[in-house]
Amino acid sequence: MNIPVVPTIPEGVKVSLVLDFQKNELPDYLTDEMKNEMNQVEFNFKKGETYSYIHKNNGERHDTIFAGLGEQDKFEPEVLRKAVAKAIRSAAGFKPIDAVCITRYPELDSMQVLGRIIGEAVEMAMYKFDRLLSKKNESNLKEVYILDNFDMELEQGIAEGIAIGKAVNFARDMVNEPANVVTPTELARRAYDAGIEHGLHVEIHNKEYIQANKMDAYWSVAKGASEEPKLIIMRYEGNPDSDSIFGLVGKGLTYDSGGYCIKTADGMVTMKADMAGSAAVIGAMLAISDLKPKINVTAVVAACENMISGDAYRTGDIIGSMAGKTIEVLNTDAEGRLTLVDAVHYIIEKEKVFGLLDIATLTGAQVVCLGTTASAVVTNDEALLEALEAASEHTGEKIWQLPNFEEYKDLLKSEIADLKNVGGREAGTITAGMFIEEFVQGKPWLHVDMAGLALSPKTKDYTPSGATGWGVRLITSLIENLSE
Ligand code: BES
Ligand code: MG
Ligand code: ZN
Repeated sequence: MNIPVVPTIPEGVKVSLVLDFQKNELPDYLTDEMKNEMNQVEFNFKKGETYSYIHKNNGERHDTIFAGLGEQDKFEPEVLRKAVAKAIRSAAGFKPIDAVCITRYPELDSMQVLGRIIGEAVEMAMYKFDRLLSKKNESNLKEVYILDNFDMELEQGIAEGIAIGKAVNFARDMVNEPANVVTPTELARRAYDAGIEHGLHVEIHNKEYIQANKMDAYWSVAKGASEEPKLIIMRYEGNPDSDSIFGLVGKGLTYDSGGYCIKTADGMVTMKADMAGSAAVIGAMLAISDLKPKINVTAVVAACENMISGDAYRTGDIIGSMAGKTIEVLNTDAEGRLTLVDAVHYIIEKEKVFGLLDIATLTGAQVVCLGTTASAVVTNDEALLEALEAASEHTGEKIWQLPNFEEYKDLLKSEIADLKNVGGREAGTITAGMFIEEFVQGKPWLHVDMAGLALSPKTKDYTPSGATGWGVRLITSLIENLSE
């Protein structure tokens, strides 16, 4: 989507968007006719409300869509993001229309922040996944103008917002694609192509490399599938003078059948989305490469499928791991943590990161606990958590911390191996997180369980139904907060 800044409404643009705060008295820039109509329907720019004013002048129709931002002193970026999305989508619903113009918007302290919010909201709201539909529902909207005098900061913010929105949509595409399309090989190919295009350093490794590095936990999950696993490594060097690197690890199960502890038919339907953590990480790497924060970041994804076959791992197997710890597999459906611990050990040992974040659709228990509203966080580092909380505040992607009390560790003790891969019915999200903590060697670490956030059954604000792209903006913002 193009979002040019223009000093006057371009000719031929027949829809204006007006974003404003809630009013006791309707503002003077409205005509009496507009005010009358608004009074009749009691529209006064309340949060989340929109009102379309249809006006005919000499037979020429010009519409104005008004979107409310609610009370000014309760304003936060998310309110504007949602209002922009709502206004744009209702404008795109009017046909035929190829351009709209945002003529009024709130004055934020930073025009760059304003531009970013608008850019990302427009880009995210207009997303659709129609690649596999024979008959596409064409929307004509191609341009969103913003009425303003030339402003470098605004332009810069818009460009950043568009880049971020595109990275979110890139992640959404990978999650929306079914598992027969996005196999580990295809996930790796997309990460490679997009990564190279963005100037990142990308490496893809195959099963021989995985075996040679003794990533036995990862390989144990992967070996039951006919599709080969792929270990994906992406590097962003934003601070060449420094040798400190932050690590990102994303769960990349392109399909999770549960293995021999097979899921129910219903439980399996959405399991193409079990690579949403890796999509968040890969998407964030693209956004980071566009925003260029001064920091070094490396991402690792241990991509594979969890399938059933004569080669698949069994319940009761005791497997190794790259870290050398042995693991008793008491549930083959707790596969994500097995792939993650080898990726975590790899990124610490081979990529030498000083700290890391892992993100995963890891437990059904997260959905029971926090639903589809907030991801669960487990951490060993207060400062990192604060940086993540600031990022979350900024992007509107909600998180909630769960504890990692010592007592929970007992749930992961095995009599015949160093660990077992499940902690039983209690505190499932915490024990999954603490299983990973066993492999972080005390390094500053954040664990984000986004099981309930990967897919949205309905269209909501700037998120069309299907893959949400959740986490791309959160991680990108975290990295910006950690940069110099
Ligand atoms: N991928 C699932 C978690 C999941 C469930 C994600 C629902 C999204 C929606 C994960 O691999 C899994 O199966 N976890 C098990 C762990 C259990 C066996 C300890 C679960 O949560 O049931
Ligand atoms: Mg599973
Ligand atoms: Zn899974």
